[in-house]
Order: sequence, then structure tokens, then C-alpha cells
Amino acid sequence: MNDIYLDYNATTPLDPMVAEAMLPYIHGLYGNPSSGHFFGRAARAGVDHARSQVASLLGCATDDLIFTSGGTEANNHAIKGVAWANRGRRNHIITSTIEHPAVTEVCRWLETQGYRVSFVPVDEHGMVDLRQVEEAISPDTLLVTIMHANNEVGTIQPIAEIAEIAHRYGALMHTDCAQSVGKIPVRVDDLGVDLLSIAGHKLYAPKGIGALYIRPGVRLEKLMHGANHEQDRRAGTENVIEMAGLGKACELIEQNLDDYARYMSRMRDRLEQGLLSASPDRRINGHPEKRLPNTSSVAFRGLEADRHPRQSAQRRRLRRGRLPQRPGGGLPRPGSDERTH
Ligand SMILES: Cc1ncc(COP(=O)(O)O)c(C=O)c1O
Repeated sequence: MNDIYLDYNATTPLDPMVAEAMLPYIHGLYGNPSSGHFFGRAARAGVDHARSQVASLLGCATDDLIFTSGGTEANNHAIKGVAWANRGRRNHIITSTIEHPAVTEVCRWLETQGYRVSFVPVDEHGMVDLRQVEEAISPDTLLVTIMHANNEVGTIQPIAEIAEIAHRYGALMHTDCAQSVGKIPVRVDDLGVDLLSIAGHKLYAPKGIGALYIRPGVRLEKLMHGANHEQDRRAGTENVIEMAGLGKACELIEQNLDDYARYMSRMRDRLEQGLLSASPDRRINGHPEKRLPNTSSVAFRGLEADRHPRQSAQRRRLRRGRLPQRPGGGLPRPGSDERTH
């Protein structure tokens, strides 16, 4: 039996067009973007082009974006960077109880450094209640960091409204968009955020690349000290190959998002209808409408996901060294049934 890969919120395969965009920087254009000669200038042009592709998707200026090693680093940089740059001014951070560890653990660590953190709960649909944010916020709040869309149930948070509350109290707003970019429109001004993280491997780019949007004027301490790469905000020779991949993935999303989203939600709904009609003892988790088009979380009464017999069989096969066969990578092609999630 062929395995079917449905875990696209964990990671996506590389889109063949993304891989193709990376090839020139693997084979011929291997220069260091900081070098002044032909090879360096060609690599620099690749970095600049990739940045403009990401910026275009997010609706921001290229100068307001830095590349990172992924969503985790972008979140760390945003949260720790703001905390360190404003040490002694304000001391309070608000986040939610459903964040990825790449936010929760940063906040927990900051607690050990003397910062106060409020974890606002969510309702039965996984939605943050604006009144809870209003109750938690105070003139001491430095940063509100709440994910745009949840990786497990796909609920989309009211980020623009939360940002409005944050700004009313003079706090900054960060959102982790690792799961939303590529599935729904994500524009920095529509969301009204000061900082926004993205993760390449959730959107058909490679693992190990991401980006952080930083609104002009936001004071942010560096995580990586060294040479003056990335507008002197993140030191380290640029990962040109993966930047080219992330740029191409963003370009493909910008051109095709409506089609992708329509296709993903059609497949999601078909899957859920099939599961629900097979037995009434199933429940769809997450918000009924404000949910990512690709994400389906279904609860089966009396069944724990990790105990499912099929998972045990897969584990046994993996232990014997048999890796699952996956179809070739690529963004979902509307109209084709090759991908069901
Ligand atoms: C919501 C969310 N934030 C952050 C991350 C971390 O991103 P990365 O794996 O690129 O470090 C993930 C990845 O699972 C995620 O789902």
C-alpha cells in the first residue's frame, strides 16, 4: 500500500520550480555576496532578488526584511530582540496558550530573565478572545506575540484587532506566520504588525530558511553578532541557495494563492465530509469558518492519535528502514487529485 503524506503543516516537499530556482546558486554562482568581483555580485543579485520576492508577497519594503534560518530563529529574534532592546523600559509580554514552542519557550526563558509573561487562553474553537488581551495588557506591556494561524487546528486569529489593542497601549505586535503564509493572504499592513515571522519549509521552500519582517523604527537587539550582513541585523554569510528557494516559493504563492486556497479548501471539505458521514462520532476541531484552507483536525471518540494501528505499522516499517514513498514535490496543482491536503 502506498503511504499518503498529509502532514503539510509539519513540512512540505520542495516545489520542483523552487528547486530549479536554487540550482544556479548550487552549480555556478557560488560566490560570496559580500565579494566585489563578478561571482560575488551575481550572488548578491540573487539575494536581492529573493528578498524582493518575499517583500512583494508580504507587502513590505525589502529593507524591512531579514533572512533567518527558519521560523524558530525569526521568532527568537523578534521576541528576544525586542525584550533586550527595551530592557528596563517595559517588562511585560503577552502571548497565547496555543503558540508553537518557538514562541512559548522563548517567553518561558524570558521569564527566567525577569520578564513577566501573560499566556492568554483560547476558546473552544482555538480563538484568542480580544477581551482577554484587553484584560492582560497594561502600560508595562512591551510586546504582544500571537500566532496568525495555528499549526494543529488551523484557527486564524484576529491579528489586526489584537495589534490595534497592543498599539493603543504603546506595545509592539509580533505574529508568527509560519502556518499562514502560502495558505491565506498575509500582508504586513493589513495585519498592522510590527514584526512577522515566516518559515520556508511550510511553503514548499527548503528547511533551514525563513524571514523576519521588522517595521521601520522598531528597536531590535541582534541575536547573531559578527560582520554587517542583513543590514547589520544578522551576521553570517548569506545562505544564497536557500534564499533563492524561499524567494521563488513566495513568488509562486503570490501568483497562485487564490487557486491554491480554493483547491485546498475543496479537498479539505471533501475529506471532512467523508469522515463525518462515515460516523457521527467524529468532531472537526478548530474554528468552523476562520480556519486555514489546508488544515483538518478531526477527533475520533475513544481513539488516541498515537495509538492508531496504522501509525504503529508505519513505525515498524520505519524501524526496518523502509521510508514512505512520497509523490514528487510541488505545490498543489488545482484540478489534480495527486495531493489531498
Ligand atoms: C507555527 C510555527 N511556528 C514556528 C515553527 C518553526 O519553524 P522552523 O521549523 O522553520 O524553525 C513552526 C514549525 O513547525 C510552526 O508550525
